[in-house]
Amino acid sequence: MKVDVLLGLQWGDEGKGKVVDVLTPKYDVIARFQGGPNAGHTLEFNNIKHVLHNIPSGIFHKDKVNIIGNGVVLDPIIFKKEVDELEAKGVDLTKNLIISKKAHLILPTHRILDAASEASKGKSKIGSTLKGIGPTYMDKTGRNGLRVGDLLTDFDQKYLTLKNKHQELLNMYDFEYNIDEFEEGLKEGIECIKKFTLVDSEHQINNYLKTEKSVLAEGAQGTLLDIDFGSYPFVTSSNTICAGACTGLGVAPNRIGEVFGIFKAYCTRVGSGPFPTELFDATGEQLRKSGNEFGATTGRPRRCGWLDMVALKYSVMINGVTQLIMMKADVLSNFDTVRVATAYKINGETVKDFPYELPENMEVEYTEFKGWAKDLTDVTSKEEFPKELTDYIKYIEKEVGVPIKIVSVGPDRKQTIIM
Ligand code: GDP
Ligand code: IMO
Ligand code: MG
Repeated sequence: MKVDVLLGLQWGDEGKGKVVDVLTPKYDVIARFQGGPNAGHTLEFNNIKHVLHNIPSGIFHKDKVNIIGNGVVLDPIIFKKEVDELEAKGVDLTKNLIISKKAHLILPTHRILDAASEASKGKSKIGSTLKGIGPTYMDKTGRNGLRVGDLLTDFDQKYLTLKNKHQELLNMYDFEYNIDEFEEGLKEGIECIKKFTLVDSEHQINNYLKTEKSVLAEGAQGTLLDIDFGSYPFVTSSNTICAGACTGLGVAPNRIGEVFGIFKAYCTRVGSGPFPTELFDATGEQLRKSGNEFGATTGRPRRCGWLDMVALKYSVMINGVTQLIMMKADVLSNFDTVRVATAYKINGETVKDFPYELPENMEVEYTEFKGWAKDLTDVTSKEEFPKELTDYIKYIEKEVGVPIKIVSVGPDRKQTIIM
């Protein structure tokens, strides 16, 4: 068996949570491979909305194994909150949630360091979710980090040593903080993690594959936030791309099967950094309003703009996407025209390959489509799509060279059209 991977092709929030939940019945195991509680994955069914941060989006289906992989960074305090909320909803987690002992821990001082670093950057701040992601991955690659497995041995001593080191680092910043506030709930969080099955999940996942069990790897963030290929430095601190599923779960590249690349029919971004097709006018406001574009983790309004084919083709290339999934087609209903970026113009030169940097003064070339006036939220098959939407889909498929296999027309599980 192979591991199929579902990942974001834009700047995150494409709708990964919804689609993982929709696809879960086809799989035995769902595994998160990177990121941490900077993610906010939304699912909706039976008129209830759920937002997940650490826990894989397969958790609402009984008898499926959900794994938090070694590439994830886990905050005990946020994790416990999420567990409590799910248990209050009657979801039994201890039976079907497994955590890698190699996943790194986000400590209270990582969150403080994140805040101090952002504050010191002033106008050039990343726009981090302030969940301590950057400092935790820095400690991982700097070989100082603490892992879930450490909770089973001499955690207290290691914690004190690292906390002292962080406090020395914090002295370099002009930043006031109250450590007690950040540490509140840490002990309970740690006890909560220890209730779960903690394993070397790479063995577990490879054994599943050997015994013909199917695995879906769930990405967080998106390709344009990837630490290597995103719009650096305005990125997150992990490999959000398909290769991240190999390192974040311990599966070999030749074990990767389908790569589901998910994108919105337009674009959004939260936080700072370049966004070539961003709209600053009433159209952008209309997208934000119709799409309810406010962050699932921080509540921040998302920046909105048109679909960007230069960026989309780049993301498809980096990930080896085999199937596309287009989200939020319903949000584009009632626009007279829908635009798509086809090229950038940088210093007078037409650029079609996603460049090293996206300069502020760049221009964008667009092609225009006639919009569709039809409400899509009750549509149940592609035959009911207005011609204008079908043309839009065909254009994207032709340009990218990959078929669109799912079109999403609303936030609910049911509002999903299999093509
Ligand atoms: P994720 O981080 O990729 O899982 O995406 P988020 O959950 O952060 O953001 C996607 C948002 O769009 C959530 O509020 C979803 O409920 C919502 N959503 C997902 N698919 C659709 C869709 O097809 N149409 C509309 N209108 N909303 C959608
Ligand atoms: P999901 O999984 C959208 C953005 C932040 C910021 C940058 C760095 O829900 O798609 P970080 O906290 O990682 O240091 O922030 O990345 N960001 C996201 N944007 N969706 C996410 O996750 C994101 N996770 C981080 O806004 O610009
Ligand atoms: Mg999100």
